[in-house]
Amino acid sequence: MNTAAAAPLRIAVLISGRGTNMLAIARACASGQISGRIVTVIGDRVGATGLAAAQDLGLATKLIEARAWRNEAGFDRAGFEAALREQIDASGAELVVLAGFMRVLSAGFVHHYTGRILNIHPSLLPAYPGLDTHARALAAGDREHGASVHYVTPELDAGPPLLQARVPVLPGDTVDSLSARVHAVEHRIYPEVISWIAARRLHWCGGRPQLDGATLDGPRQWSED
Ligand code: GAR
Repeated sequence: MNTAAAAPLRIAVLISGRGTNMLAIARACASGQISGRIVTVIGDRVGATGLAAAQDLGLATKLIEARAWRNEAGFDRAGFEAALREQIDASGAELVVLAGFMRVLSAGFVHHYTGRILNIHPSLLPAYPGLDTHARALAAGDREHGASVHYVTPELDAGPPLLQARVPVLPGDTVDSLSARVHAVEHRIYPEVISWIAARRLHWCGGRPQLDGATLDGPRQWSED
């Protein structure tokens, strides 16, 4: 395919917190590393301070507060996800990027975006799906930790990993020092994978990722070179 002719990829980014990965993606769009643009940034809680940072960049933002779908009967996940879908689809996004979006999404929601939804996770998947990955790596005495970008499938943090970055665990590391090291590499690998999609190099083909025309059987490994 003639990548030069491809229209800029329309990207929706979902956040729950500081949004530093979202900002790295926005920078990569601005610099041309990603042939794309962020068409909406959605936060699910007032504490998603990344929303203000996105606004400062002139990006369209939307707060869809999960709390608003909580009632005596519990959490109306279907209602919350319907609102999310409406906002994403109205933005015309082709790719949904979960960037520190701390919610488990239903199979129905994930299926709606099959092959068009990515997540970044702070571990070398399949190690440590779920929460508290840095503390778990430290408790296990791991010498190496890292981050993975993966396609999202209904099972939590189990979709095919596309790119991983490894960082050493250093003597005296704490959750804070280790997570800072992981965060730094996340800001490199997330824009990289999105740039592959924007350049139409990475596709979802029959339930498997395909990069540059070949099935990706395991994640590529990030290196600075
Ligand atoms: C990142 O470290 C990301 O890997 C993690 O949340 C952080 C968000 O940081 N995501 C998960 O743990 C998802 N399971 P950010 O808001 O600064 O981008």
